[in-house]
Amino acid sequence: MQVLTTIAAVRAARAAFPALGLVPTMGFLHAGHMSLVARARVECGAAAVSIFVNPTQFAADEDLSRYPRDMPRDLAMLEAAGVDLVFAPDPAEVYPPGYASRIEVGPVAEPLEGARRPGHFAGVATVVAKLFNIVQPTRAYFGQKDAQQVAVIRRMARDLDMPLDVVVGATVREPDGLAMSSRNVYLSPAERAAAPVLYRALDGARALFARGERDAEALRRHMRAAIATEPAVEVDYVSVADGASLREVERAGAGCLVSLAARLGRTRLIDNVVLG
Ligand code: PAF
Repeated sequence: MQVLTTIAAVRAARAAFPALGLVPTMGFLHAGHMSLVARARVECGAAAVSIFVNPTQFAADEDLSRYPRDMPRDLAMLEAAGVDLVFAPDPAEVYPPGYASRIEVGPVAEPLEGARRPGHFAGVATVVAKLFNIVQPTRAYFGQKDAQQVAVIRRMARDLDMPLDVVVGATVREPDGLAMSSRNVYLSPAERAAAPVLYRALDGARALFARGERDAEALRRHMRAAIATEPAVEVDYVSVADGASLREVERAGAGCLVSLAARLGRTRLIDNVVLG
């Protein structure tokens, strides 16, 4: 496994792979990332992973400085998984002095996370575009847990004619339903015990839909009531949105994205399911 920190070294190494799957990450890897890595290897014959905690997607009041990092552990996991290439640059390699450009993706980046985290998706889109240009993957792999991120990256890749496939892997969950996330490490034991209510709320909405409920507000009400059973969990938003535009709907239908964000102490978690 080659561990590279410069753009020039990645460009030189890339030529050896006829096809290459890229899994962009911010490190502190978990089973969700590793499922994407396994898929990249099978589908492309070779896998690259980027590890970069991207400062431009964090607002000033967010968790950039305390974002969990463990490079030795990450590298050991990637080596064991048979990864070919790791790109782990310093911020100055990605954003050298004078760096000024950024990519705004438009309406799909505006609701939900975009409304609560101004500038977040411009930061994500810009760094992902840079990673695509640097690594030049055949396919790039992202997790469904960050559903809006996937929608933003798909839009960007289509709009800017980026020559690669954006592939989405299913959310990997703990046995009690909690979606795997690097941020789960922040949870206190009491918060960790309360956190599965998020998936129970989503799953309950999905079950209501399966039983014929089509009133989107009834699904939102169900999720708010489910989460209210855990006083340690504070709802940020619950949403039933059109799967393409991510705008709220009145009538729920197959393909709608049911999503939520909630705070447990200082930790903010997101999760979603797709109806039908
Ligand atoms: O999902 C993430 O970990 C990040 O948003 C990404 C895609 C690696 C960009 O920094």
